[in-house]
Amino acid sequence: MMQAALITGASRGLGKALTLAFLNAGYHVAANYCSSEEEVLQIVSTRRESAIAVKADVGDSNEVNAMLETVQRTFGRLDVIICNAGITRDSMLVRQSEADWDLVLKTNLTGCFHIIRAAAPLMIKSGGGHIMNISSISGIKGSEGQAAYSASKAALIGLTITAARELAEYNIRINAVLPGYMLTDMGKNAGRAADKAKQDNILRKYSNPDEIAGWIVSFSGTTGITGQTFNLDSRLL
Ligand SMILES: NC(=O)c1ccc[n+]([C@@H]2O[C@H](COP(=O)([O-])OP(=O)(O)OC[C@H]3O[C@@H](n4cnc5c(N)ncnc54)[C@H](OP(=O)(O)O)[C@@H]3O)[C@@H](O)[C@H]2O)c1
Repeated sequence: MMQAALITGASRGLGKALTLAFLNAGYHVAANYCSSEEEVLQIVSTRRESAIAVKADVGDSNEVNAMLETVQRTFGRLDVIICNAGITRDSMLVRQSEADWDLVLKTNLTGCFHIIRAAAPLMIKSGGGHIMNISSISGIKGSEGQAAYSASKAALIGLTITAARELAEYNIRINAVLPGYMLTDMGKNAGRAADKAKQDNILRKYSNPDEIAGWIVSFSGTTGITGQTFNLDSRLL
């Protein structure tokens, strides 16, 4: 039986790299998007037998529940989830609007809660599985101008550990990864932060989304590791 994976935020950047990496590794993949329908349809169109596009704003629990029903109907199982969808609304915190703060927390943190809550029953039926939450080094070290983002990514680590404790008895392993600075749309649009990130990286490099995706695919084959946060970022802690 082919294993099935759900990747959130699959239209661009790391999510796109993850979708291609899981497809190349032989998984069925549900590729989630919020607004970039064309990009996701293009990715799945070449793999019609093993990939579907699923639209949902991860911040909306009704849309997430409907998405999980589609995954269940289509693949009948769910073995891996990558909670990758994420946004920034950078601003110094004294100028941060409440609407932006709420949107970042809703997407980056509550979105993962919605996904884990809706997916757990399906994963339990599949005999267990693996959830990887994409956090960030900003969640551990903080980052000027990123109060909301850093708070969301720090809280995601707390969610990861608690969910790992609660779902361990069902053989659901839940971990988090800090992928490092990538020149995706998010990374490119962060102004001077990109130069600083390269300087702070002791290899003087950016992270490569394909390398991160490859690591996550091979880690998804493990069965005995849960509740951990893996730093793949060569900006040292
Ligand atoms: N880039 C970096 O340097 C870096 C560093 C550390 C951690 N990360 C984390 O890595 C993850 C991927 O980042 P990236 O750089 O690949 O970002 P990106 O290029 O900006 O792509 C973001 C993805 O998230 C999706 N998304 C946004 N809001 C969504 C929502 N409400 N519901 C569903 N999907 C939504 C977007 O889908 P649509 O296009 O359909 O809106 C898009 O596919 C994020 O969690 C980010 O915080 C990134």
